[in-house]
Amino acid sequence: MKIKDYLKQTAERLDNSALCYGHGTSNSLDEAFYIVYGVMGINFSDTRSAERVLSRLEISKLEELVQRRIELRLPAAYIVGKAWFAGHEFYCDQRALVPRSPIAELILGNFQPFLVEPARRVLDLCTGGGSIGIAIALQWPECAVDLVDISEQALALAMQNVELHGLQNRVRCIHSDLFAALEARYDLIVANPPYVSSEEYKELPAEFNHEPALGLISADDGLQIPLQILREAVDYLSASGQLVMEVGYSDEALSQRLSQLPLLWLEFEHGGEGVLALGAQQLEQYREQFN
Ligand SMILES: C[S@@+](CC[C@H](N)C(=O)[O-])C[C@H]1O[C@@H](n2cnc3c(N)ncnc32)[C@H](O)[C@@H]1O
Repeated sequence: MKIKDYLKQTAERLDNSALCYGHGTSNSLDEAFYIVYGVMGINFSDTRSAERVLSRLEISKLEELVQRRIELRLPAAYIVGKAWFAGHEFYCDQRALVPRSPIAELILGNFQPFLVEPARRVLDLCTGGGSIGIAIALQWPECAVDLVDISEQALALAMQNVELHGLQNRVRCIHSDLFAALEARYDLIVANPPYVSSEEYKELPAEFNHEPALGLISADDGLQIPLQILREAVDYLSASGQLVMEVGYSDEALSQRLSQLPLLWLEFEHGGEGVLALGAQQLEQYREQFN
């Protein structure tokens, strides 16, 4: 069987299995590509490989993996052990969430128009496997990046990704409960913190149960950690620094909680929502209201 036929057949099977796509793909055909090309190490832009004929051994290996996707509802990225973010490859396993933040689009656009020039010091708060901070370091060869997480396991994965990209001289991994262990000031703080309420967490599709709950759940209707970041970020930003934070579909809850503030929600060409940007001056001005 040719790869292109196997992809079609697999997509049909996935379609009939009531799966959730929310971990890097949005449909069954892309998911089939992710598994087949990812496992076989084929570049996603390589269109000629679709004509290649699969051996029996290859088919039986792929079948086992597709079955795991269907039966265990394991996200494809965990099956493949890799994820692609902002055009870069990362190791990906259950120590951290599967990278999928729309912040990738901001990175590739150099955070325009919020930053007039590339930041020299960057903090990726709640870094997980490090994809956001590492993609920023790859985008801006002059900048130094700190990757911060409370999970030692996530940080171990982030360190593997730092090494994968040879960035040990510019990217540090720091174990910290949000800002607690930090002293520096940054030109840019990017955060994709947990923002799912415990009630919402129980309703999430089975795929999300394979991700560490620590990376998803935040108390106070999902807002506790985002509000703490809003309160404290200004103490770790330079005078012209910017905070960019994702709160996903908790954007409405946050907007309601902070109804007096003119929050700037960013729009994305390639999909995604719930990302806001605030400058150091605004964070200082509104600090009391983040309580
Ligand atoms: C939504 S995940 C984001 C991971 C990664 N930045 C991404 O975009 O894929 C949130 C991360 O925050 C970390 N985290 C949770 N509470 C934290 C805290 N109090 N301080 C630092 N990190 C925390 C979790 O371990 C998890 O890795």
